[in-house]
Amino acid sequence: MNIKFGIIGCGRIAERHAEHIHNLGELVAVCDTKPERLELFKDKYKCPVYSDIDELLENEQHIDVISICTPNGLHAMHAIKALQKGFHVLCEKPMATSVVDAEKMINESLKANKRLFIVKQNRFNPPVQAVKQAIDELKFGNIYSVQLNCFWNRNPNYYKGSDWKGTHKLDGGTLFTQFSHFIDLLYYFFGDVSEARGFSANFDHRDIIEFEDTGTVAIKFYNGIIGTINYTVNSYEKNMEGSISIFGDKGTVKIGGQYLNELEYQHFYHYEIKDLPPGNPPNNYGEYKGSMSNHDKVYANVIDVLQREGTIATNGFEGLKTVEIIHKIYQAIK
Ligand SMILES: NC(=O)c1ccc[n+]([C@@H]2O[C@H](COP(=O)([O-])OP(=O)(O)OC[C@H]3O[C@@H](n4cnc5c(N)ncnc54)[C@H](O)[C@@H]3O)[C@@H](O)[C@H]2O)c1
Repeated sequence: MNIKFGIIGCGRIAERHAEHIHNLGELVAVCDTKPERLELFKDKYKCPVYSDIDELLENEQHIDVISICTPNGLHAMHAIKALQKGFHVLCEKPMATSVVDAEKMINESLKANKRLFIVKQNRFNPPVQAVKQAIDELKFGNIYSVQLNCFWNRNPNYYKGSDWKGTHKLDGGTLFTQFSHFIDLLYYFFGDVSEARGFSANFDHRDIIEFEDTGTVAIKFYNGIIGTINYTVNSYEKNMEGSISIFGDKGTVKIGGQYLNELEYQHFYHYEIKDLPPGNPPNNYGEYKGSMSNHDKVYANVIDVLQREGTIATNGFEGLKTVEIIHKIYQAIK
């Protein structure tokens, strides 16, 4: 039987969700506070639409999973409402903008005995999967250090066209909206971060966003690995690079491209990553591009977990860790 989904927040990324729900499950109802977004979804998917999440949750109790695609600062409230009403939840990244909220979400999912999935689709990028396997199989030997570069372009129009991006309350910061996928991968590869130091500044988005557009950070992981994170949304006119370089005593790797889509360099002791499958293109929003479009894999995982007792690709605890690391970095660099 098809898994039934409802979407809260019918903006840009919700279009990706709806597409894959349509292919892999059933889209039963959607909710948005903007009538024009509801019209668009109603026309395309012929499903009931709601302007209030409480009404949807009350009237559509046959739904299995609620997909949360609202602004970052609303994820916790919407996810908690859905969990308390007995739905499984798939929540867009970042899971929340505060550690306390992320903890509450996990708590509610445990109390309700419902699954909480977090969207971190970059984990499915073929070079990322291959490097994760190499780390797990100890092909790098002792890993010493890592360098993360996130050089994207988000021009003033990107923020002016949104009523929440660039705000403290609903966005949270550049590391939350643009680069939380990358921070998640640091956690996925190397575990938790014990210390962070650095600088941040708003160079080119003053009066446009309420936080930094650039940061340079030094981090240390609990396992002793040290690293740097250099990030900016000021890459001239377009995205330049999203990359992770890893240095171990038996191997060096750089995953690069604009969105961690290419294995740019590898050199190992008696090992080679071979035959990488082609990845998906990036999410293309017209004026700008985002991460690799792997939401198909996110939905395949949800269905695998609910129908075949599979393992959640990114669970609430891992989502919380990303929020915690970002929080630690912001405490150090603001
Ligand atoms: N995984 C990814 O690669 C990826 C890519 C883009 C965005 N995102 C995340 O998805 C979320 C949405 O981003 P977006 O770019 O689609 O934003 P968006 O502004 O295009 O869409 C958000 C939608 O939520 C609606 N909304 C706001 N408050 C609401 C409420 N109380 N009830 C119901 N609907 C409400 C808005 O009207 C809007 O239509 C964000 O958390 C963002 O970080 C993830």
